[in-house]
Amino acid sequence: KIQEINKFREIHTEAARFYFANLLRTKNPGYEYLRKRGLSDKIIKKFGLGYSPNSWNSLMNYLLSKGYDKTDLVKCGLITHKTESNKYFDRFRNRVMFPIFNYNGKVIGFGGRVLDDSLPKYLNSPETLVFNKRMNLYGLNISKKGIKDDTLILVEGYMDLISLYQNNIENVVATLGTALTIEQAKLIRRFAKNVIISYDSDQAGQNATLRAIDILLKADIKVKILNLKDCKDPDDFIKKYGFDGYKKAIEESDYYIKFKIDLLKNKYNLKNDTQKMNFVEESTLMLKKLKSPIEKDLYAKYLSDLTNISVDSIRASIGIKVSRNY
Ligand code: UTP
Ligand code: MN
Ligand code: MN
Ligand code: MN
Ligand code: MN
Repeated sequence: KIQEINKFREIHTEAARFYFANLLRTKNPGYEYLRKRGLSDKIIKKFGLGYSPNSWNSLMNYLLSKGYDKTDLVKCGLITHKTESNKYFDRFRNRVMFPIFNYNGKVIGFGGRVLDDSLPKYLNSPETLVFNKRMNLYGLNISKKGIKDDTLILVEGYMDLISLYQNNIENVVATLGTALTIEQAKLIRRFAKNVIISYDSDQAGQNATLRAIDILLKADIKVKILNLKDCKDPDDFIKKYGFDGYKKAIEESDYYIKFKIDLLKNKYNLKNDTQKMNFVEESTLMLKKLKSPIEKDLYAKYLSDLTNISVDSIRASIGIKVSRNY
């Protein structure tokens, strides 16, 4: 089995070389696409980005010429076999290719993006002997060398991470649009005690943030949330506000509690007394669970400011002793 793993990794490395070589051909549409999105030659090389030709068998023929078996290429998810017609064809065609590395820098899978608005926008390698999505994080092989302040930034997408990296934000990992797993959180914890979640600002991103918060806390990680203001994702943000803007957003990122209170607040009309009470009740339930009395006090004040309910009654309801020296 270890031999098979090594062979599959070799196949992936060869495939990455093939895609990369194609990207560098003159007038390559993938290269033009990436340049249009603002990526430099240097960053394209750093992340080994490539292009899968618009043909049915170009990768297959290349890898067969290198002496690999069709059945192994199918097991790697690079080639699809249609049993009805007994035809084989390349899984990735006419896409910009993002090799996915494990944290030791070995290619274990690919993501491929279309060059226009067609769907699916990204196609990814299936689960294989060497690609276990639950266990890996995109970019960790590179960002583990750039960790600052014991902190990693968590983003959704390939382009978010690469775009941040090009702008000198180098401590980033990406979950690639799937729900963060406990295994991934534990992997992060081996490299950093703090995580700043910087997911997309849409509804899907907010829901994913809520789920990621709980998983990261379970892995004993301190969690902050970054506010992207009017931008839809970190790639957009850094293009609009640059390194300084993102750096500022990092510094201004608050602990996850504030994010949760703010989201909760949107569900209630605080001008209505009953709704206000329900909001406070739900929020205080959350604050009660906090271990640090300092955090409790901080967010009791925040809640008091939001609702105009006295900080003493909020403190009392979350188990902070209110003492008086009358
Ligand atoms: P997004 O839809 O936010 O894409 O999905 P993006 O990263 O901003 O990509 P661009 O800027 O349009 O190129 C976030 C991530 O979810 C995964 C990808 O990993 C993507 O980077 N995803 C998304 C898929 O796997 N398949 C899809 O069809 C869409
Ligand atoms: Mn990075
Ligand atoms: Mn998204
Ligand atoms: Mn996005
Ligand atoms: Mn994007």
